[in-house]
Amino acid sequence: MVAEIINGKDLAKQLREEMKEEVKQLTKQGITAHLSVILIGDDPASHSYVNGKEKASTEVGISSEIIRMDTTISEEQLVTKINELNNDDSVHGILVQLPIPDHINEQRVIESIDPKKDVDGFHPINIGRMMVGQDAFLPCTPYGIMTMLQSKKIQVEGKHVVVIGRSNIVGKPMGQLLLNNNATVTYCHSRTKDLKSYTKQADILIVAIGKEHVIDASFIKDDAVVIDVGVNRTAEGRLTGDVDFDHVKEKASFITPVPKGVGPMTITMLLKNTIKAAKGLKQ
Ligand code: GUN
Repeated sequence: MVAEIINGKDLAKQLREEMKEEVKQLTKQGITAHLSVILIGDDPASHSYVNGKEKASTEVGISSEIIRMDTTISEEQLVTKINELNNDDSVHGILVQLPIPDHINEQRVIESIDPKKDVDGFHPINIGRMMVGQDAFLPCTPYGIMTMLQSKKIQVEGKHVVVIGRSNIVGKPMGQLLLNNNATVTYCHSRTKDLKSYTKQADILIVAIGKEHVIDASFIKDDAVVIDVGVNRTAEGRLTGDVDFDHVKEKASFITPVPKGVGPMTITMLLKNTIKAAKGLKQ
């Protein structure tokens, strides 16, 4: 079987068209959806992600600002800035681009963001709400993946989904969202022994390892759905995923490419969360 490609870029474009309308409606009600992004230091990858978020916001009519801070900033200064944004009614979404410098306690920073403005869905209140199936801001990458699966009418109920990766941002919430939708979920990670024995059983395989092409066709069950969250740079500077796309696509039923896969959907769900925050739909 040659897999059908789930093109995240096309789906993102379609969703962003719908969002433009929603943003217009909000503007008519006197609400300008606004996202504040805090960027600390000069990591090139973070700069590129943040620029992508700003560009996408502008595209759908969301107002956004990038607040740039030096790596020498103290934790107190950062938390003070977040509090200012928490108290500013014109700011609907707040995002601190990760990673942040080692001398700052990341968890304290995440917890200092008002859960009503936590458009990343990283605050423990939102994570807890997600876990018990309440309305919450969902972390953007897993939310984007669920949306991609739904767009192709891929049912997760009763399916065995193997998630490789256990980060707080992707792997853990990914498994939880799938479980909430009645999938049977197995988590694998860097300490898993005999990874292939698990991946071969996956009806749906979600790969968030962060190493180029580690998942080749021998890891895949025939007709599996393969979602590649990896974003790696090849020696030639090209973007590529964790999955050996060219060979795996010959065996899978659906597959996401890199680029034009999960990445554009992550940003799109951030926009969706920001619109939700502007509508005041979260507590
Ligand atoms: N760094 C890498 N991915 C993300 C993300 O989704 N949100 C934030 N805030 N930082 C990140």
